[in-house]
Amino acid sequence: MITAVSLNPSIDKALTIERFRYGSMNRVMSTRRDAGGKAINVSVVAATLGAETRCAGFLCRENGRIIENRLMAHGVQSEFVWLEGSVRTNLKVLDAEQGVVTEFNEPGVRVNAQDLAEMTELVCRLAEDSDFLVLTGSLPPGCPVDYYAQLIRAVEGIDVKCALDAEGEALRRGIEARPCLIKPNRMELEMAVGRPLADRAGVIGAAKELARRGIDFVAVSLGAEGAILTDGERTLSSPGLHVPVRSTVGAGDSMMAGMIYGLMAEKPLEEVLRRGMACAAASVMAEGTRLTERSTYKSLLDDVMIEEV
Ligand SMILES: Nc1ncnc2c1ncn2[C@@H]1O[C@H](COP(=O)(O)OP(=O)(O)OP(=O)(O)O)[C@@H](O)[C@H]1O
Ligand SMILES: [Mg+2]
Repeated sequence: MITAVSLNPSIDKALTIERFRYGSMNRVMSTRRDAGGKAINVSVVAATLGAETRCAGFLCRENGRIIENRLMAHGVQSEFVWLEGSVRTNLKVLDAEQGVVTEFNEPGVRVNAQDLAEMTELVCRLAEDSDFLVLTGSLPPGCPVDYYAQLIRAVEGIDVKCALDAEGEALRRGIEARPCLIKPNRMELEMAVGRPLADRAGVIGAAKELARRGIDFVAVSLGAEGAILTDGERTLSSPGLHVPVRSTVGAGDSMMAGMIYGLMAEKPLEEVLRRGMACAAASVMAEGTRLTERSTYKSLLDDVMIEEV
């Protein structure tokens, strides 16, 4: 069982207008609304691959159904700590004439110490029958920056592995608690090690450094340039698949889901990276907010090139 923790879900609303006029009335041509959030993405993709998956997190009474419905549609179980108010909206306004997107992201509903205590209790309870706990996405207002680290430490005595995909200080503090897997992109890795990384060799060095700090698997995603994965002893590099790029939304989340799917099956390092790469590429090939299709994922597995570095 994979349990993904969603602390700050969002409803992504996309508006298309002919031409964006700042300070004027803009007529909307079309609207789309999707349940978003990185943990939601990981659960949906992991379920698509065939893993037993659940999502735990904070949800708001007013409009939380939209999130619940998306999870249900993909066969993901869910359990929430319910909050008053409404799930934040992330608004994307597409100017059709210019092809430019303007984004407005809300911070989310504030949580208090009682909410966080309930969340920790829920996560510890669900960890009992989970193989993997996935901690990913932004933290809501009121949530301490080391909360992911707190959760990793809270489940230390339980037979569950933690995967962390966060940025900035949340990642840095989380690393100190030694999760099993992390997947920073280049920028997140630079922040984690505190220096710029000029080339692939620099990225590999930094990934190995984090592995030495007690993280079992360090994956670094490099967008169109693929990814690397190290377990501290062996380091693998994949150039990334040449696929038609339709939308990179959730590519990193799909990669996480693919790798965890490999780790759950106790596959060798090559196979873990292969699954991550095929899953990410399949996600990139899907339109808009749609993520990995299982058939696309399967058809890409044999195309993934991996070399030991
Ligand atoms: N343009 C692309 N072409 C091919 N593959 C891509 C492309 N962009 C991303 N990918 C695949 O998806 C993986 C993850 O992408 P990326 O490194 O952009 O993650 P990320 O920065 O964590 O993204 P996010 O957190 O926004 O989902 C890459 O390692 C690669 O395999
Ligand atoms: Mg990411």
